[in-house]
Amino acid sequence: MLGTKEHLSVENGHLLIDGADTVALSEEFGTPLYVTSEGRLRENFRNYRRAFLEADIYFAVKANGSLAVLRILALEGAGADVFSGGELLLARMAGIPMGMILFNGNSKRAEELELAVEANVRVSADSLEEAVALSRIAMEKNKTIEVVFRVNPDVSARTHPKIATGLRTSKFGIPSEEIVNVYKTALDLEGIRPVGLHCHIGSQILDIDPFVEATSRMMDLAADIVDMGADLEMMDFGGGLGIGYAPGMEAPGPADLARRVLPVFRAGCSDLGIRPRIVLEPGRSIAGDSAVLLTRVNVVKRSHLNFVGVDAGFNLLARPMIYDAYHHVVVANKADKKPEEKYTVVGPICESGDVLAGDRMLPAVAMGDIMAILDTGAYGFSMASQYNGQPRCAEVLVNGGRAELVRRAEDYSALLVGQMVPPRLLS
Ligand code: LLP
Repeated sequence: MLGTKEHLSVENGHLLIDGADTVALSEEFGTPLYVTSEGRLRENFRNYRRAFLEADIYFAVKANGSLAVLRILALEGAGADVFSGGELLLARMAGIPMGMILFNGNSKRAEELELAVEANVRVSADSLEEAVALSRIAMEKNKTIEVVFRVNPDVSARTHPKIATGLRTSKFGIPSEEIVNVYKTALDLEGIRPVGLHCHIGSQILDIDPFVEATSRMMDLAADIVDMGADLEMMDFGGGLGIGYAPGMEAPGPADLARRVLPVFRAGCSDLGIRPRIVLEPGRSIAGDSAVLLTRVNVVKRSHLNFVGVDAGFNLLARPMIYDAYHHVVVANKADKKPEEKYTVVGPICESGDVLAGDRMLPAVAMGDIMAILDTGAYGFSMASQYNGQPRCAEVLVNGGRAELVRRAEDYSALLVGQMVPPRLLS
């Protein structure tokens, strides 16, 4: 399983990430603990760079909103796909240039549109109604905001239904058959300037065909828009490339995607005589395998299953609970031991669905062992909550064996932040 993950290795029976001993990290920083490999993150980004030389890569901030991660990507030249005013703030704080940010969202608040206008960032409009609202706000502020239109390409990609976004019935985007009219109407609106099209067909997609299909639909729509006499300066194809979470799960990489998608894009552009900028919005395939979640074994209980109770649950890693997602588990302090028994790794949350990993063959597990849950760099911490009165854990960045704290663990006082008990209840 560690085979393709060059940032993970085993030394003296311990799992290492980017040269740092995970067992020592869990002693030094405590558990639970998210640990991100800076090297892997950079390498994943550079893989996109190399595969799509002419593209702008906008990292999907929802996948990982840690400032240190965003800063590293900013230094690598990434832009950002932001889906809220909060994500816009994070991207800005990390130093991602305004000209490389796209403000996405299917239901943006008026204040969020205002933020986008004030920051002068490009907006992906999810409906004509939204474009009209944006134009009004921009006019009030005497600005002109560049807008791309989110297309619902009606492409079905094989993934978990909760993360397939390009289906006709999904809440995202403007139906393909309406795009041209919407675009045309928007060309006459003041305060906004339509500059292109945007789509995103879903997440954790392991098959390249749906991407090719979406690209070709987008190029057909581009043709309709060019026919209408408008220019296209930008085409954003979203993110969605999956990663290999489970042993034997083959995942195509950015190079495989580029090999299939770029020819369709280039042929379309040359037929139409246009040269739009190509934008991609990967999240998972950049950050996903760069982090592990370290969690300590509180208890091993032999009942009808061998339950291993650890100190992280779906409060810190929601994916197994929400999407039945598989995350590989390694006993970090027994990483050289042979699997012996079947265990079910469960968290401390008061719900039976709080299972991080079911039926896993692991070396004999004992209280105090450290489990490393792999591939938790995307939609891990960013989806964490304080459910069950659990403060969120710390995050550490490792680089060539050196570890730096990049997010302090919350303590119990975090549970009280912002809360007020009306004085009349206190007497
Ligand atoms: N662009 C847009 C407009 C998106 O909605 C998303 C993800 C992305 C880009 C990035 O997609 P990626 O390259 O990461 O697949 N929480 C779920 C995933 C939700 C994805 C939502 N949109 C999970 O843990 O699997």
